[in-house]
Amino acid sequence: MTSESVPDRYAVIGNPIEHSKSPQVHALFAQQTLQAMRYERLLAPLDHFVDSVHEFIVHGGRGANVTVPFKLEAFALANELTPRAQAAGAVNTLSFSADGIKGDNTDGIGLVRDITRNAGVPLRNRSVLLLGAGGAARGVILPLIEENIAGLVIANRTQPRAMELAQQFSHSGVPVSPAAFDQLDQRFDVIINATSASLDSALPPLPDCVFGSQTLAYDMMYAAQPTIFMQHAAHHGAVVRDGLGMLIEQAAESFFVWRGVRPDTAPVYTWLRGQL
Ligand code: ATR
Repeated sequence: MTSESVPDRYAVIGNPIEHSKSPQVHALFAQQTLQAMRYERLLAPLDHFVDSVHEFIVHGGRGANVTVPFKLEAFALANELTPRAQAAGAVNTLSFSADGIKGDNTDGIGLVRDITRNAGVPLRNRSVLLLGAGGAARGVILPLIEENIAGLVIANRTQPRAMELAQQFSHSGVPVSPAAFDQLDQRFDVIINATSASLDSALPPLPDCVFGSQTLAYDMMYAAQPTIFMQHAAHHGAVVRDGLGMLIEQAAESFFVWRGVRPDTAPVYTWLRGQL
């Protein structure tokens, strides 16, 4: 093999990491777009994320996805941040070059693309309810606002977190307001579950009035079976969707950031759905 034909190295860095589907997704993207690259799993010790990144760079790493629990450390490590990473306050995509480490966040655009393109639900002028005020919620707010939604309500169990988040985006040109679950008194076009409640098979305590027959209820989690949130929303007549498409779309955007090529996500989605 000549030096030119050595594949560029990428990785997903997290702890734990064995469960990550990113290597398979990126391998399919690379095959499809004829990119010479290798994408591996990298387990970083919990207290050695930064060392792990530097070691990967020394060994030829060109970029990395960052997952739980290192997205905030990746944000701090980057010496340049994209506006969407700044707004998210977290980084899931790192690019390494002679200029240093650039941090990006593709989670929110991944969600927006899955909703607008794959689910075929336009967001423009739609009312959106975001459940949760943690990192997952924060990461999707700017891309939602950039779709010119009619308004965003952020509902969270712990009220001050919702208020703080709404305040941060209060000058965005789109009305953003906080709410408690039991204060919600209107139907929404789109409801996004960004809480980690589904992990515990728990349900945010939503009043029934938020769901209508045209409502898209989107859970950022995914599993072989519909999540408890999806089951609840479907029972109240909503159209439901899980976060598998978001996972693939955020990966596709990272791939584009690194390689400048957009893969076709549809066959990868079908393949991965079959693997669950
Ligand atoms: P992540 O990075 O996944 O967003 P996080 O920052 O710990 O993780 O945030 C978890 C979110 O899920 C929070 O909004 C949390 O609500 P609180 O701020 O009140 O803790 C929400 N959450 C977790 N379990 C929940 C449950 N059983 N019902 C409702 N909300 C829940």
